[in-house]
Amino acid sequence: MSPESRMTLAFDVYGTLVDTAGIAQALAGYVGDLAPSLAQLWRDKQLEYSFRRGLMQRYADFAVCTRDALDYACASLGADLTGTEKGALLQAYRALPAFADVEQGLQAVKTLGCRLFAFSNGTPDEVDALLKHANLRHHFEAIVSVDEVGSFKPDPAVYARLLQRTNSAAAETWLVSGNPFDVIGAIAAGLQAVWLKRDPQAVFDPWEIQPSATISRLDELPLVLPGVS
Ligand code: LAC
Repeated sequence: MSPESRMTLAFDVYGTLVDTAGIAQALAGYVGDLAPSLAQLWRDKQLEYSFRRGLMQRYADFAVCTRDALDYACASLGADLTGTEKGALLQAYRALPAFADVEQGLQAVKTLGCRLFAFSNGTPDEVDALLKHANLRHHFEAIVSVDEVGSFKPDPAVYARLLQRTNSAAAETWLVSGNPFDVIGAIAAGLQAVWLKRDPQAVFDPWEIQPSATISRLDELPLVLPGVS
């Protein structure tokens, strides 16, 4: 095993390990054809609320961002859901489906001896529930949540917390994320970051920071990590 193979890998959760669009199935029971656009607006607003709360230093945990974003998306699209229905949807959000390539991808890097962490905006109990539901929890040494910092990605403080919690140096720590803002945030904080671009149409933000590597499936990860391929 090469020294590099003990590298720290931090996996984003929502949009990387689990599919936030998967909630459209539960939504369809309430709103029919509106489900995909409601799911997208819900996700976009959830992230916007996290960014804004981070900037304003008005932290409320990610479940609050998710709940408020659902209220906004329903009101905006004229979906008249009851409190009970919204409660059921928020419960379903704790059991989002894993992407099909995740199990194989995690197994591949684990076999190489890498240390695996889940690193998320979600609270520890939410992320724990999600990963257990998807039968992925056992792959991870620990869950690192922004809740410990009281801010959200891409605040540099949360990436610093990841390094502290994992006892890792920035240059040997790799974030793996399907979210470009997260990739940019990690690289800005001195980490390496792989963009998981599952959707061929996805566009990376045209900033001065670009991903350290780009893959289209999680099981391609060993091909781009130094010293392990
Ligand atoms: C997370 C957000 C970015 O899991 O989806 O941290």
